[in-house]
Amino acid sequence: MKIDRRKFFGTLGTSAAISAMSHHARAEALEHYMIEQLDSEAHAEDTDAKMLDFYDPERPVPRGTGRLFAENKNLTPMPKAPTLADFFALRFAPARHVLQSAQRALATDQPERTVLACLLHDTVLNLVKPDHGWWGAQLYEPYVDERVSWGIRYHQALRFFPDPENGYEYPEFYNRIFGEDYEPDEHLKLAYKFARDHKWYMEARLITMNDEYSFNDEAKVSIEPFIDIIGRHFKQPKEGLGNDNTASSHMWRTIANPNRPL
Ligand SMILES: [Fe+2]
Ligand SMILES: [Fe+2]
Repeated sequence: MKIDRRKFFGTLGTSAAISAMSHHARAEALEHYMIEQLDSEAHAEDTDAKMLDFYDPERPVPRGTGRLFAENKNLTPMPKAPTLADFFALRFAPARHVLQSAQRALATDQPERTVLACLLHDTVLNLVKPDHGWWGAQLYEPYVDERVSWGIRYHQALRFFPDPENGYEYPEFYNRIFGEDYEPDEHLKLAYKFARDHKWYMEARLITMNDEYSFNDEAKVSIEPFIDIIGRHFKQPKEGLGNDNTASSHMWRTIANPNRPL
């Protein structure tokens, strides 16, 4: 994917606002910008699920919030007992970046657990942007193998730390956009150190490896190849996500109805 440097910085505000941002905040903003570009109208015809009509890329949402909080929303009500696939179709679509990540994991014979982690890893960005690894892990924790949510939590930090032994190089475009002196924030260094020494390190590392290759604006994607994997590995509550009284049901309800006043 080609990145228009000027256009990207234009989304961040005045040059004073940009220089007040930490390197890490800028790097995160870039990833989110790329995901939005990938999902924008221009590529919508390549996906089964078309861009949902509640989102207008010309009217960006306040920084830090996900596109579910865009103005002019015209949200389709969720079914009574919504499934993960319903959320993909009605709230996350077209979700090209995560579908591409999962597709790459599938094509390279990675475990189904990793395919699922890739499919879910950035979906919480539709709701909230900062610390999306932690928010995403919390959203999925009650429904997946512990290693899946663990990987989602730490992928956010690991993106900034190369691991040549496992074939993960520092993303080259970060150097181009932010300069060679880029340094991640302290809490990410600590999270990285913790994850690096953990027995589940590769759960998060594999997500970043499939992540880096998943901004291809030509790739055709669909949720179809993942329906069976979701069925085998995602504990879908029969009452529906949001109605099941888990530690993250409130998050599903907010995604379902972001317009609720209270
Ligand atoms: Fe991410
Ligand atoms: Fe990602």
